[in-house]
Amino acid sequence: MSLDYTNPKLLADTSKVETGEFTWRSPSNLAIVKYWGKHGRQLPRNPSISFTLENAFTDTRLEFGPKKSSEQSIELDFFFHDEPNPAFQKKLVKFLESVSDIFPFLHQFAFTIRSGNSFPHSAGIASSASAMSALALCLCSMEDEIFKTLQDDVEFDKKASFVARLGSGSACRSIYGGLAMWGQMGEVENSSDLYAVPYSDETHEVFKTFHDDILLVSTGEKSVSSTAGHALMEDNIYAAPRFQQAGQRMHNLLEALRTGDVETFGNIAENEALTLHAMMMASNPSYMLIEPNTVEIIKRVRAYRAETKEPLYFSLDAGPNIHLLYPEEIIHNVAPFVESQLLPLCQDGKMIQDWVGEGPVQV
Ligand code: PMV
Repeated sequence: MSLDYTNPKLLADTSKVETGEFTWRSPSNLAIVKYWGKHGRQLPRNPSISFTLENAFTDTRLEFGPKKSSEQSIELDFFFHDEPNPAFQKKLVKFLESVSDIFPFLHQFAFTIRSGNSFPHSAGIASSASAMSALALCLCSMEDEIFKTLQDDVEFDKKASFVARLGSGSACRSIYGGLAMWGQMGEVENSSDLYAVPYSDETHEVFKTFHDDILLVSTGEKSVSSTAGHALMEDNIYAAPRFQQAGQRMHNLLEALRTGDVETFGNIAENEALTLHAMMMASNPSYMLIEPNTVEIIKRVRAYRAETKEPLYFSLDAGPNIHLLYPEEIIHNVAPFVESQLLPLCQDGKMIQDWVGEGPVQV
C-alpha cells in the first residue's frame, strides 16, 4: 500500500498565474456497510460501500488570488451560505495545511471558499462527505488547470478521492456516482484503503435507481462528532469482531449487489445501521444518537414490510435520521405510507427525497 502524492514541484509561476476559481457540486453518500473505526492517517479498519446520493449535496467555490502577506501560512476566508464562519474556517485552514505537501501551491495564494449545503449540516447527513469531496475536487481542478497534471479522468478521480479521504474518510466515496467502495478487499480488484473505487459496473440494474428518502427526525447538531465516535472504537471490546463482521457482510453484500438480491441487501443495510449505533451505545463513554421517533419509524417500516411483503428497508447514518431504502418500482405504494405514517414523526414533517445519483459535477 503505497501511493505518495507529495510533490514539491507543484509551485506556480505567480507572475503568470494570478487569479482563478473552480466550483464543484458534490453529493453526500449513504454507506450500506459502514466505516466505523480508523487508524493511521484516516485509514479504515474495514471496507465499506455506499450509494452516492443526488439531492443532498454541497456546492463549493474555491477562488484564489495574490497573497496579501508574505507569511508562509494558509490565507483563507470562508463563507458558509454567504456568512463568514470562523469555526469552519479554522477547520479548513488546518485541513489545507495538512495537504500542503500534496499541493504546495496552497502557500502561494490567498483563498476564498464559499460553500453551501442543500440540507442541514451536522445532522447526521454526511455533510462532511459532500463538503470534503467538493473541496478535494476544487483542489484537483486547480492543480490540473495550472500544471496540466491530471488530464486523465481516472487519475483525477483517484487523487480527488485520496485527498477527500484525508478530510473525512467517508468523503472519498462521494467522488463516484452510483455505488463506491473503499477499503482493501482481495475480491475487489484495485480496491484500496487509500481511496475509493467505483462499484457500479458489477451491480444489478435494480440498485442503479434505488431510492433513499431521508426522514428528518431531528436536524439539531449531533452531540458527539464522528471523529470522537471513531476514536471510541479503539477501546471498544466489540471492535475486533465488528471489523471482522463488516468484512463478511461486505462479501455477502457484493454478491447480493451483483445478483439483484434486494432482500439480502436490505437485511444487511438494516443490520449495519443498528450495529453502528450499537457500537456507539457500547462505547465508553456510551452515547446514543437515535431518538424515540427513530425507533418508532423503524418499527413501522418493519411492520409495513411484514404486512405488504414489499422490499422497504431502512438505514441510519451517524445521527437520528432514517434513510428509507426501496427500489423504484414500489414508489407509488411507499409514498402514501411515508406521507401518512412516517412524516408526522419527522421534525416539521420534513424529508429529503433522494435516490442513487450520478456523482459530482463541475459547475
Ligand atoms: O467520514 P466520517 O469520519 O465523518 O465518518 C462517517 C462514518 C459513517 O457515516 C457513520 C459511516 C460511513 O461509512 O459513511
